[in-house]
Amino acid sequence: MEKFVINGGKELHGTVNISGAKNAAVAIIPAAILCNDICVIENIPSSISDVVMMMRMLESIGAKVCLRNKSTIEIDSRTINSDCVSYEYTKHLRASYYLLGALLGRYSHARVAMPGGCDLGVRPIDQHIKGFEALGADVRIEENAIVEAKAPELRGGPVYLDVVSVGATINIMLAAVRAKGLTVIENAAKEPHIVDLANFLNTMGADIRGAGTDTIKIRGVESLHGCQYSIIPDQIEAGTYMLAAAATNGDVIINNVIPKHLESISTKLLECGVKVEEYDECIRVCGNDRIMRCNIKTMPHPGFPTDMQPQMAVLLSVAKGTSIISEGIWENRYRYVEQLLRMGASIKVDGKLAVIEGVDYLKGAPVRADDLRAGAAMIIAGLMAHGTTEIEDILHIDRGYEYVVEKLTGLGADIKRIDVPEPTGIRSAG
Ligand code: EPZ
Repeated sequence: MEKFVINGGKELHGTVNISGAKNAAVAIIPAAILCNDICVIENIPSSISDVVMMMRMLESIGAKVCLRNKSTIEIDSRTINSDCVSYEYTKHLRASYYLLGALLGRYSHARVAMPGGCDLGVRPIDQHIKGFEALGADVRIEENAIVEAKAPELRGGPVYLDVVSVGATINIMLAAVRAKGLTVIENAAKEPHIVDLANFLNTMGADIRGAGTDTIKIRGVESLHGCQYSIIPDQIEAGTYMLAAAATNGDVIINNVIPKHLESISTKLLECGVKVEEYDECIRVCGNDRIMRCNIKTMPHPGFPTDMQPQMAVLLSVAKGTSIISEGIWENRYRYVEQLLRMGASIKVDGKLAVIEGVDYLKGAPVRADDLRAGAAMIIAGLMAHGTTEIEDILHIDRGYEYVVEKLTGLGADIKRIDVPEPTGIRSAG
């Protein structure tokens, strides 16, 4: 077990390089099995645990996965010999369900254990199943534990998503890319990683149009071939460093980003009185002594991302005035509030709303990372707080933030990763 120890109150200064996008990587790695060939994928955040687990999952079905260097992997799908993925792997991350779409697309059959992932409330997969069924697959869930999908032959069809779902959009694209005929996904998700996956598949020889809009058209092709592809920068990692710069009243250049992907975050920071300058591939964020209040409503892209909601709540906890956050995606994304209250924040949660009364400062405390983005929020809180913050359960943070200690230390933060001895047995008295 490990924890982070942060001595807060240091302004961040300098330049930080953003890694490849986790949520694109965990879709593109399984997509590589749709060909019987070799794919070379660059700008991979290869040390975050979600990506490591996704690579192991591919190996578990027979693919050869090797690291060419720390941000480039090679996937050889010619040796795949199984269309089943066990819970031993899928329990670690939500994105494991992309193997369902990818294996279905490759073999017209897939058997994959139900996925794990961050606990953000109920996470149904009905829209994924609806999509597979629209392609002619028969889908069965065995004892709520294993999903099996099979079809004599997948054929394209229309799919209207009842909710805008990133995962369902990706899974349907994966299954449809080699199906016979045309698949049209209406009310599709538009996140940058959806577009990145479509670009990757098109580089492999697929025919996908409209990714990034509400309607994605996929004309099935007979086969796909290997390719070389570079993943987009991570929108949420970049946004997290933008907020860390603002929260510590720092001056940071966030490098290797696509500023267009960060517009909803930049706009809110400007509203809070933070200086944001956009360049071609970087963004400069300069903090302000006193952050101004603002309201946030999380929405599918291009709205404000739910994955930045906890980090934004930390910033607003020291803003001048009252801010209101409305969570529009997940039913249970305020668990971190309990931790912030222990640091002196004043936040009331009522269902999907959080009302934040700005306080003068946060004070260091022992806290917990309840999930990935909650953990990122705790880091920002620790960086801006007076005194020392210790964050436990940092394995959640390691799922999505590469070299976080090194990157923050490079900006002048005082943050250390330390080992925590495993608790020994507790003796009962008497
Ligand atoms: C993706 O999760 C991201 N994960 C999440 O990021 C992110 O919070 C989320 O999209 C929303 O942007 C990955 O990309 C790996 P959804 P996903 O399907 O695909 C409902 C992070 O921190 N829904 O878009 O699981 C669902 O309950 C993670 O990096 C259905 O009702 O999210 C939710 O309310 C956490 N039926 C809404 O749609 C379905 O079949 C959006 O979920 C599917 C989803």
